[in-house]
Parts: sequence; C-alpha cells; structure tokens
Amino acid sequence: MARELTEVGVVGLGTMGAGIAEVLARAGLSVTAVDVDDVAVARGREHLAHSTGRAVQRGKLDPADRDAILERIRFSTSLEDLAHTELVVEAVPERLELKCDIFGRLDKICPPDTILATNTSSLSVTEISVATGRPSKVIGMHFFNPAPVMKLVEVVRTVVTEPSVVEDVEALAARLGKVDVTIGDKAGFIANALLFGYLNHAVSMYENHYASREDIDAAMRLGCGLPMGPLALMDLIGIDTAYEILDTMYKQSRNRLHAPTPIIKQMMTAGLLGRKSGRGFYTYADRDSAEVV
Ligand code: 3HC
Repeated sequence: MARELTEVGVVGLGTMGAGIAEVLARAGLSVTAVDVDDVAVARGREHLAHSTGRAVQRGKLDPADRDAILERIRFSTSLEDLAHTELVVEAVPERLELKCDIFGRLDKICPPDTILATNTSSLSVTEISVATGRPSKVIGMHFFNPAPVMKLVEVVRTVVTEPSVVEDVEALAARLGKVDVTIGDKAGFIANALLFGYLNHAVSMYENHYASREDIDAAMRLGCGLPMGPLALMDLIGIDTAYEILDTMYKQSRNRLHAPTPIIKQMMTAGLLGRKSGRGFYTYADRDSAEVV
C-alpha cells in the first residue's frame, strides 16, 4: 500500500516551485519551501500570496482557508531544514550540474527513505539520481504551469526507481487532485516532447515576419480551440525555461524541430523572460500578471 506522505519540501521557489508548494499545501500537506536567499524566498512568498489572493478574489477560496494554506508553508534559505521531510520536490532552473549538486546535498541531509523528486522537464532523471547514494528513491514529478490549475503530473521512473516509490508518488498525485501518467526517462517525456516543436515553429514564424504575434496566437486559439496561443504560452512558461528545454531536447535527439529559434536565446539574453519579467513576446501590466498592456 502507498505511503501517506505528510511532510514535504520544495526546493526552488520560481514560478513552478511556488505553484507546486501551493498545490501541496492546498492538499493539506505540511511544506518546507526553500530557496537560495531572502530575495528568492520573498519572490516565492509573493507569488503564493498573489495566486491564493486571486482565488479569494474570485470567490473560489475562503480567506480562512487561504490563511490555513499559507500557514502550512514554512519558508527557509537552508536545505538543512528539509531534514524531517518524507518527499522533496526540486524545482530549480534546468541546469544539470545545479540539480546534481542539490540532490547530492539532499541525499546527505534527508533520511534514507525520503523520496527525492525532480520537476525537471527535459533533463535526465537517471543522471540526477546517480548524484545521490539512493538512485532507487529518485523520481521525476513533472508539473505543468500554472501548477495549481493544470491537471497533469508526469511521473518519471528510471530503470532503478523502486516500484513502491512510483506507487507513493502516483498516490500523492491523486491526493493533489492531479491525473498522472507514468513514463520512462526520455527528454521532454510526453507533453514537452510534443509541445515544444510546435512552440518553436510558432516562434520561427514570428521571427521570419510570416505573421504577427497576435495572428499566430489567434489562429491557434480560435482555429484549434487551444486555451492560449503559442507565443502567449511561451511567455507563461518563461523564455529562459523554454530555451533550456529546447536546447536539452535538441542536444539529446538532434531533431531539428527542437533546435531553438535564434530569437529565443536573444530574448533570454536581453532579459525578456515573459510574464515573470513583465515582458516577453507581449508586455504585461505587472510581474505574474496575465494582463497585456
Ligand atoms: N496561478 C494560479 N491560478 C491561475 C493562474 C496562475 N498563474 N492562472 C490562471 N489561474 C486560474 C484562475 O484563477 C482561474 O481559476 P478559477 O477557474 O478557479 O477561477 C482559472 O485558472 C482560469 O483563469 P483565467 O480565467 O484568468 O484565464 P484563462 O481561462 O485564460 O486560463 C490558463 C488561464 C489556465 C493559464 C489557460 O490559458 C491555460 O490553460 N493555458 C495553457 C497553459 C498550458 O498549456 N500550460 C502548460 C505549459 S507547458 C509546461 O508547463 C511544462 C513545463 O515543463 C514548461
């Protein structure tokens, strides 16, 4: 029978990490949320306040429940504060050496049966797992943005992940109100492997002045019934994150579909990161806002 996890940790409080912390706390779990310094922690705290505040404003969440959710999240700048957790979800930027370093440190801090999960969207879970002395307890738990809204979790098992760990994480996904798909360790898993070729193609249409950003997005929203167009979705995902995912998938498969369109790297270098920096393909009213100005 699956373990009922109650004490969990999140490492990295960017858009995804803060969203994952919210999802875990909403399901009644006690969350320790860690980022590297006070500025990063404050940004994560603000993201959570904004997201839960919006739910209150829309009448979807009682203010007392919002307070209870936020009280279940303890913030810290120290990985040592994860020593009591049963599962940790890592959601730091998509850089293998950074993730391996964090997993190596978590391995020393957490009890031997703590499950170490990565929210990586394109890196090898297997490579991350061997940075620890417990590869059989390492798994992928890939959420989608916005994490509180999107129903899917991709559960990624490596060739050495223990079946009981897969079972525990699948059970947790169900408790979070998510639907899981369990797959093997291949760059992009299912959803990103299919999605990012399409997003990259849309960016290249824009870069080549084939169509305006509004027309590209309208075509996919109104012609194909998608909730948002590809350029608006790139801004939601984050231009830096999108670049890292494409680059990793391209390096692994050499599939030209995933060769990052040059403007993506240029935007990243110029700090046009999408919603989180206030400007990407579109300009936003404020950080984390969907409102285009
Ligand atoms: N955080 C929390 N909740 C949010 C949110 C956010 N950032 N954005 C929207 N929501 C909630 C709203 O509060 C609202 O909740 P309610 O229905 O309970 O009131 C609901 O989502 C709908 O929001 P809105 O009415 O403001 O706006 P839309 O109806 O346009 O929906 C959207 C916004 C959910 C973002 C929708 O446009 C959508 O589904 N877009 C596609 C998102 C997508 O494809 N995500 C996957 C990206 S790929 C990925 O994440 C993989 C990774 O590895 C990069």
